Amino acid sequence: MLNGRRVLLVIGGGIAAYKCLDLIRRLQDRGAQVVPVMTRAAEEFVTPLSVAALSGSKVYRELFDLTDEAEMGHIQLSRAADLVVVAPATADLMAKMAHGVAGDLASTLLMATDKRVLIAPAMNVRMWDHAATQRNLETLTGDGVLVVGPDSGNMACGEYGPGRMAEVPEIVAAVEDALLNGPLKGKHVLVTSGPTHEPIDPVRYIANRSSGSQGSAIAQALVGLGARVTFVTGPATAPMPEGVDLVRVETAAEMLAAVKKGLPADAAVFAAAVADWRVEGASDSKIKKDGTGNLPVLEFAENPDILATVSKMKTGRPNLVVGFAAETDHVIDHATAKRLRKGCDWIVANDVSPETGIMGGSENDVTLIHKDGAEDWPRMGKQAVADRLAAKIAEVIGG
Ligand code: C5P
Repeated sequence: MLNGRRVLLVIGGGIAAYKCLDLIRRLQDRGAQVVPVMTRAAEEFVTPLSVAALSGSKVYRELFDLTDEAEMGHIQLSRAADLVVVAPATADLMAKMAHGVAGDLASTLLMATDKRVLIAPAMNVRMWDHAATQRNLETLTGDGVLVVGPDSGNMACGEYGPGRMAEVPEIVAAVEDALLNGPLKGKHVLVTSGPTHEPIDPVRYIANRSSGSQGSAIAQALVGLGARVTFVTGPATAPMPEGVDLVRVETAAEMLAAVKKGLPADAAVFAAAVADWRVEGASDSKIKKDGTGNLPVLEFAENPDILATVSKMKTGRPNLVVGFAAETDHVIDHATAKRLRKGCDWIVANDVSPETGIMGGSENDVTLIHKDGAEDWPRMGKQAVADRLAAKIAEVIGG
């Protein structure tokens, strides 16, 4: 299954474009999310309305659409996917890709993407056999572009031979192959996410403002690279990632127990905002106002530090342990000290002072701290941070 995998589908202008409608449905049947992009020529063969209705997504069409650029620029669009599929890949699109021509939305995002690209060529047999197309094909495969088809057979133009776009099940199989054989195939990554709730009594609790969106995005990005992900989450408001082994917990103590149960793992990412303290001796029954004006007094006990516990494990420690540091001042100094204190390999540090709008917002401004120093990342969306972090994790533990 392709649960939670994100496919950016570039529909080129050829008669085979009609097969894309079925391709969208079959990919969705497998659990994938499909975001379609159409070239101007593609719109001569299928309507954007059909594509939008079937995909349930906005169809991206124009390069210089200000609304699109404001919502999601072409660079971001090209990266917010686990795989880019070009179907049908016309002779024109293949030539543009091979030569780095970027004159419209489709060709621009094909140049801007940092994700793998799978093409399903479709064209007249003479065009396919033409030396120029064969040269382009060689360039593209040399660049690491994956290819499915074309098949041989009767073509819409009345000729016979190679050039017919691969059938939909064949393309789906190629997509599955590409996605499930990502660099983290066979690797297990544990991710914690969300806040914890520490009970005061059965109806009241102490919580924090973490939405869990950065943790969800990281888990989704890791799934997209082929990892098996155990996702241990507190009561988060962000959408849950798909295609993960989901473990829901409430308290820090439950989170630690779930993490221990989830190990061994090749890597662990601790993105949860774990409460530092729990209420000592939380009441089993609702604490009542007694009418005397006496106020309840809460006593606190320190919660276990899950990140430090796992980082300092003598046996069974994941090869890569990543923690987060949400700081409001002296971010790099505090995060560097935190990395050493907790014993983790990397700290993803961010400035969460209220004026940054990061806590609960959609963007993040990150500095990655490791033993060799600090890497300052530009401010970007939480999904982009997740994709970049997942790619870095793959560099260390990937096959
Ligand atoms: O010490 P501080 O809470 O700033 O550390 C943040 C990092 O430590 C995060 O990665 C968080 O998930 C982790 N943490 C933890 N258990 C705790 C407190 C923090 O795993 N009790």
